[in-house]
Amino acid sequence: MTRLAKLMVGNWKMHGSLVANVSLLSDLLSGMGEVNCRAAVCVPAPYLAQVQSLLAGSALEVGAQDVSAHESGAYTGEVSAAMLSDFAVRYAIVGHSERRQCHGETDTVVANKAQRALAAGITPIVCVGESLAEHEAGQTEAVVKRQLAAVIHTNGHCISEIVVAYEPVWAIGTGLTATPEQAQDVHAVLRAQLQAATAHADRVSILYGGSMNAANAAVLLAQPDVDGGLIGGASLKVPDFLSILKAASR
Ligand code: 13P
Repeated sequence: MTRLAKLMVGNWKMHGSLVANVSLLSDLLSGMGEVNCRAAVCVPAPYLAQVQSLLAGSALEVGAQDVSAHESGAYTGEVSAAMLSDFAVRYAIVGHSERRQCHGETDTVVANKAQRALAAGITPIVCVGESLAEHEAGQTEAVVKRQLAAVIHTNGHCISEIVVAYEPVWAIGTGLTATPEQAQDVHAVLRAQLQAATAHADRVSILYGGSMNAANAAVLLAQPDVDGGLIGGASLKVPDFLSILKAASR
């Protein structure tokens, strides 16, 4: 088994400003002395240039929150994978539940986005997760398998290059977290699905996201198939994010 170091990714969502980003990132970098996990922040597209320059030479990598499913062309408002590459973007979140819900992204669109990112040398962080209604109906496993299957179908040849994030929708921004056992159960299902598609499934980091915080990170990260975290609200609070990064560095 060749698991990589834990991967901890902050998703700023639609937060930040030129002024706020400078202090958040300088405070973060100055507290990262004991951090030895992999770490990145996924920032709003207009701040990619600023964040690229603030993080140059540091251990914190730059990520985007989305990428277009198209290569280039008449797609007003879209940002292509090639454009992200111009800003040293290492990761791009694809298929976040907020985009599936608010922007009607289907499994196929998400799979195409992952493909565009991979073709540009960007690691897609493919989000999967069930809604509260699906959770209560006992459909969790079926939903996440369907969502991942679309990405495997389109990207099978390089599926070991992706990152997967299990984000139960009912846990996002709600303060409710999957129990460590619930997270592990779903992560094991996803791992098995990846194992059926690639001999290198152990190299795929499967992150947990959904109200991960300084108090619950260690126990979630202790699960055998939880390889890291995708962190929203707590990634905007320097002491909290640093605690989470340290919990991932043990
Ligand atoms: P919260 O950590 O704020 O629940 O957000 C999780 C998330 O959606 C990360 O992508």
